Amino acid sequence: MQSSWSKRYSEQQTSDKLMVHHHIRSKMIEPQDCDDSDEHDEAVPLPTLPPMPRERVPLQKSNVCSRSYFMVVMVFFHVYIINVIALLLYVHYNNSPGDVLASPNRDEASGGSNHHKPPEFNQQQSDSGFQQDMYLPRLEGIRVGHVQKLSLVPGNVHEMRTLSLKPLLFEIPGFLSEEECRVVVQLAQLKGLMESQVMVPEGQEELTEQLNLSPEEIFNLLDLNQDGQLQLQEILTHSRVRDGIWLTPENLKEIYAGLKADPDGNGLLSLEEFRRLGSDAFQRFLQQRGVKSSQLVRNSRHTWLYQGQGAHQVLRDLKKRVARLTRLPSALVDLSEPLQVVRYEQGGHYHAHHDSGPVYPETACTHTRLAANTSTPFETSCRYITVLFYLNSVEGGGETAFPVADNRTYEEVSLIQNNVDLMDTRKNCDRSNLRVKPTKGTAVFWYNYLSDGQGWVGEQDEYSLHGGCVVTRGTKWVANNWINIDPDYQRQARYQQLVSQQGEEDEEEDEEEGEQPQSQPSPEQLQTADSHQEL
Ligand code: OGA
Ligand code: CA
Ligand code: FE2
Repeated sequence: MQSSWSKRYSEQQTSDKLMVHHHIRSKMIEPQDCDDSDEHDEAVPLPTLPPMPRERVPLQKSNVCSRSYFMVVMVFFHVYIINVIALLLYVHYNNSPGDVLASPNRDEASGGSNHHKPPEFNQQQSDSGFQQDMYLPRLEGIRVGHVQKLSLVPGNVHEMRTLSLKPLLFEIPGFLSEEECRVVVQLAQLKGLMESQVMVPEGQEELTEQLNLSPEEIFNLLDLNQDGQLQLQEILTHSRVRDGIWLTPENLKEIYAGLKADPDGNGLLSLEEFRRLGSDAFQRFLQQRGVKSSQLVRNSRHTWLYQGQGAHQVLRDLKKRVARLTRLPSALVDLSEPLQVVRYEQGGHYHAHHDSGPVYPETACTHTRLAANTSTPFETSCRYITVLFYLNSVEGGGETAFPVADNRTYEEVSLIQNNVDLMDTRKNCDRSNLRVKPTKGTAVFWYNYLSDGQGWVGEQDEYSLHGGCVVTRGTKWVANNWINIDPDYQRQARYQQLVSQQGEEDEEEDEEEGEQPQSQPSPEQLQTADSHQEL
């Protein structure tokens, strides 16, 4: 709302300026014409007399000149009035959407609390066409280094510092107490952690095979600069990850050498050389060579901790605090993924990735797939916000790196230059624009999506690219709280409706069976696969 208004306003202003400019020009020209006609109508003045005061002359006559003067004044007047009205409307709409749309929360907010009631989705409205009645508050970053005081826990004030605007990223020291960190780590250990990535997953059918593309077509797609040669970074930009294996420029050269793919050794593949390779040559080579866990996209273990009813108080408190921090309706936070606890051993890492996928019409969100009434060929996790907790202070390395935070531009190809891959967190964290040092109890949180300008989720924020740098000493414990929201408002609305209906039915059944009412969806229902979007 705000941006479309300001856009409209600035467009309006520009056209007004043009109009004014035009009239100023015509005004400047017209007196000249008037002078001509004046001189023509009047008796020829005596050359010796001082020139007549010009402005008095037109007033005495009703000719083209005075009429156009009148027009100019009137147009000026109207433009002025329109400008004033536009300004008033701009100020009005600039201030009000948050207040109007977020009105369900206003009472509580004015009562000094940030805790929001779950919003109501109006099913009738959403079924009969797009009618959005929910507004997602979004925190303001102001500028890098800006500090805001937060009241998240009674009797305790937290400071939240803006770390970057692209993505909108904040750091809150002491978000968790030492004791809370200890409990979360212990609960995770009790539950048991599993390998985050299995060594070499089943070879998946290549997407290009499914799409039935010819080698020429694939070559053309890969050849980003269209110079008829495939540079290393062109290959890596498209397929850094092969069956979960992270390719480096060095690996690729090794593969070329092993397969004799690049006889002249210049690191470039011509169409001919590319054709001779065959589509699964890289995979076969990698499989045969064997893979170490340090060569995978990530090298860590993790587990999931349910935070709903019946969960440990620390986990439930944490969830409530996250809702307060993000100012999002607790219904949305409740319906999100469980807490993911991650442990990196010395040597562990997680290469740069997006926690969430891009928004395409043919992509559905994992968390709302049950509510999607059309089937879509692709599925991705839709994590509007990532809240990352550091559960210990790491002895060496293990920073969270944001390679392109607040970069002027985002270009996928520029992520690899001169054989330096900015997404490689084992090698190039020191070149990242921003690194956050893991400190026990600190939380960082960021938005993986931009706003759509109307209070809902917009496009993916590509600048939210991040990864875990290699741990050089000790172990690293972190936890992720992801807040799932579908960029498709109606799908999210249907999903919430479905879950709340399910909750009601369960409650009825429970009452019949004389059990404890349970309105929360089960952890199995909530638990979604760790389907990070790897580039
Ligand atoms: C993640 C992640 C960063 C880190 O778990 O998705 O990006 O510093 N972690 O461990
Ligand atoms: Ca090329
Ligand atoms: Fe991540």
